[in-house]
Amino acid sequence: MQNDFGIAILAAGKGTRLKSRRPKVLHEIGGQALLLHVIAAAKTIAPAGQIDCIIGHEADKVRAAVAHTGVGFVLQTQQRGTGHALQQLKQHFAAANLAPPPHLLVLSGDVPLIRPETLAALTALHLREHAAMTILTAVPPDPTGYGRILRAQNDAQAVAAIVEQKDLPSGDPGPPEINSGIYCFETAALFANLGKLSDNNASGELYLTDIAGLLVAAGRRVVALQADSVDEVLGANTIAEMMHLDARLRLATAQRLMAQGVTIFRPDTCVIDAQVEAAADTIIEPYVQLLGNTRIGADCRIRSYSVIEDCTLGDNVLVRNGCILHDARVGDAAQIGPYAHLRPGSEIGASAHVGNFVETKKVTLGKGSKANHLTYLGDAVIGAGTNIGAGVITANYDGLNKHQTTIGDHVFIGSDSTLIAPITVGDNTLIAAGSTITEDVPADSLALGRSRQTTKPGWVTARKSARK
Ligand code: UD1
Ligand code: CA
Repeated sequence: MQNDFGIAILAAGKGTRLKSRRPKVLHEIGGQALLLHVIAAAKTIAPAGQIDCIIGHEADKVRAAVAHTGVGFVLQTQQRGTGHALQQLKQHFAAANLAPPPHLLVLSGDVPLIRPETLAALTALHLREHAAMTILTAVPPDPTGYGRILRAQNDAQAVAAIVEQKDLPSGDPGPPEINSGIYCFETAALFANLGKLSDNNASGELYLTDIAGLLVAAGRRVVALQADSVDEVLGANTIAEMMHLDARLRLATAQRLMAQGVTIFRPDTCVIDAQVEAAADTIIEPYVQLLGNTRIGADCRIRSYSVIEDCTLGDNVLVRNGCILHDARVGDAAQIGPYAHLRPGSEIGASAHVGNFVETKKVTLGKGSKANHLTYLGDAVIGAGTNIGAGVITANYDGLNKHQTTIGDHVFIGSDSTLIAPITVGDNTLIAAGSTITEDVPADSLALGRSRQTTKPGWVTARKSARK
């Protein structure tokens, strides 16, 4: 039964090889921390209440970043190796007087591309083989740096031991099959052998990998499952390895979207986070970034150099080149850009247009309304069928407080008008171009708020003749 599995995720290490102040498991690929990828995979095998993260280096930061997932935490104050990490888990169960789960799936916080199908296959094999330990392995093109699997004689599935690359005799390339750092254990067998680990090795650490040899010496069965794809077991020990995984993950995301009918030109140039969704017949041009929790409908076109984060776009939306959209919602058939900036709280109605060099913040723009050029709209509710002329500004900030602007339906705001908030402009009104509007405008009115023009015919000619 899969329910017999508890899960431990090793996430206490510093990640020395990254040369970074940020703990390794909080580095991001595909827009999400390594550890969150691993927790998501773990949750496909057991509920959050059966998952424990072993944390140590920058434990508070790591805990804060993933606590929302509901997993438990076990502290490994000093990081004396992967075997030492599981000694802390054993002590945690003992101290809390908790019965450990019959089987333990151990995941590595820095092996983030692991697929649920592979974990299911690993747990199934473990139970079927009645193994004390089942190791997920792979044969990558370059096994440098990984622990290696020493296979047993006369049994295709069995393993004799794992040897770390550092502990291979010098000049020995070692076997090509690597240890992924992902295992199933019969918990009692693991816990019975943890005390026998020694740090007499090249790193001076307690290696979890030594448990394989100890179990075999005790007459227990240790087997291995080779992963179908090498990518999913690759670890991230350096920034370069991390960026390799990031590229693999983003390519997989692009491929998932393309399989759903989304056209992505030059997907290698696009930065698309793992959770992004888009519907069929949407076209994504080169050099687009789709980040966070972004949802794009069908038949949209996102033109090059636009960055869209945490947004929801309806169907048939056109986002022209170079737009920045953050935490905004855009209705069906709306057109945005080029070079528009939709800031948080922007709600752009169906068929509305937001044109070049227009910035919006906390704005509702009604159905079919247009703000096509050089405009700032902040803290405003704008009705349907309204036209906002070029250069219009909602003056929403008096230096201390933000104030609201309300504009009705079918309003025409002439170019270069300033609406000094708080202010309400009624339905069917017309604001003359160049107005500064400081008082509410009732429905169906014309408002002019500008100084009267004086024209003096012949004045220039008169000046010229006076100079002679
Ligand atoms: C480990 C394996 C190696 C395997 C590789 C796969 C050991 C001894 N070696 O090597 O066989 O091929 O993973 O990626 O296990 N951690 C702790 N506490 C510690 C030390 C590490 O929680 O005291 C955590 C780290 O945060 C990391 C994981 O354990 O998430 C693996 O540690 P790391 O130092 O990266 O091990 P590798 O050298 O990659
Ligand atoms: Ca590692």
